[in-house]
Amino acid sequence: NQVEPSILGLPLKYVSLITLAVQNAALSIVMHYSRVSTPPHLAYSPASAVLLNELLKGSISFAIALYNAYSLLESASTRQRKTPLACINLWMTAFWEVWGEILSPDCWKLSIPAILYVIQNSLQFVAISNLPVATFQVTYQMKILTTAAFSVALLRKKLTGTKWLSLFFLAIGVGIVQIQTSAGSGIRAAIPKNANAVGSAHEYHVHVMNPLKGFGAVTAACFTSGLAGVYFEMVLKGSKADLWVRNIQLSLFSLIPALLPILYAPAPPASRGFILDLFRNFGGWAWGTVAIQVLGGLITAVVIKYSDNIMKGFATSLSIVLSFLASVVLFDFHITLSFIIGASTVLTATWMYNKPAAASNRTPPMFVLS
Ligand code: C5P
Repeated sequence: NQVEPSILGLPLKYVSLITLAVQNAALSIVMHYSRVSTPPHLAYSPASAVLLNELLKGSISFAIALYNAYSLLESASTRQRKTPLACINLWMTAFWEVWGEILSPDCWKLSIPAILYVIQNSLQFVAISNLPVATFQVTYQMKILTTAAFSVALLRKKLTGTKWLSLFFLAIGVGIVQIQTSAGSGIRAAIPKNANAVGSAHEYHVHVMNPLKGFGAVTAACFTSGLAGVYFEMVLKGSKADLWVRNIQLSLFSLIPALLPILYAPAPPASRGFILDLFRNFGGWAWGTVAIQVLGGLITAVVIKYSDNIMKGFATSLSIVLSFLASVVLFDFHITLSFIIGASTVLTATWMYNKPAAASNRTPPMFVLS
């Protein structure tokens, strides 16, 4: 019998799901505040944040893969006493093992989700800068619809009548929330109630949001999320490679599209060199955004491994509720009747979609990437 991994006696499966829900809510709030709380000339570069995210996520995944490989080698070792030299030897062997796995002939498969995730992570910045936190969270639920569409098209997944119905309700719910937010075109960003007390270094200023641009970005992000998620699932299930190695490959391929906009961006007026320019205007909120994004990528990997995408959907819908509560407490977010109706429809649809079906009705994938 395999022992289920746990943290403080709680199964890792549930710990990771709850952490993902809190992470999702925290990301939208911190990212939104990091964008709207500073005037444009003092704003940090989202392209730098996307690049840092991939660098940190890749490094952490590498450390985990290396530690796992070392532990395996150590448990297989017959030596009773470990001299420092023997330890170094084991670490070196583990390093080359992981390196070999990273450069496996099928590593190119990760290039497609890598590009898609970089685009998605960049679009997220545009969306969150132009939409209130709660509206962004609700509209982002449309990724369930795109994930389903790509699963049907690429994985030949069959959906039950209930699932199709819930997708229909999801679209209606998002539509209701959209109409309400679009009515206030050019809305002012909700500045935290206690903006000065939070320690904002800048004077209170009005950030004008463009909901149409926000909705456009979030819709495009839903498409990349669905396609990248399904593609990543195909790659993971089509081979026996370690999840952390797949994550490193994903980060490595992401570096190219993440670096391009930085290299081609016009140099700032008083350039201080590539590295210092990269971190220009990077304050606590920007670092907070990157840290929460990194955490999100890592937890997503754990959730996929110890749970499944269905449970992941539940975690996301729980994060909507957390974002609502936080938006009311922290920001001047006014909840209207149409918002409540739209958001409730989305939540009910998410719940309906994630309800386990009586029997599995999956046909074999159309093509397996192996
Ligand atoms: O909302 P969605 O589930 O599509 O978001 C996935 C997020 O998790 C993206 O920001 C992506 O970069 C990240 N991710 C990751 N590693 C994976 C899968 C997703 O970092 N293996």
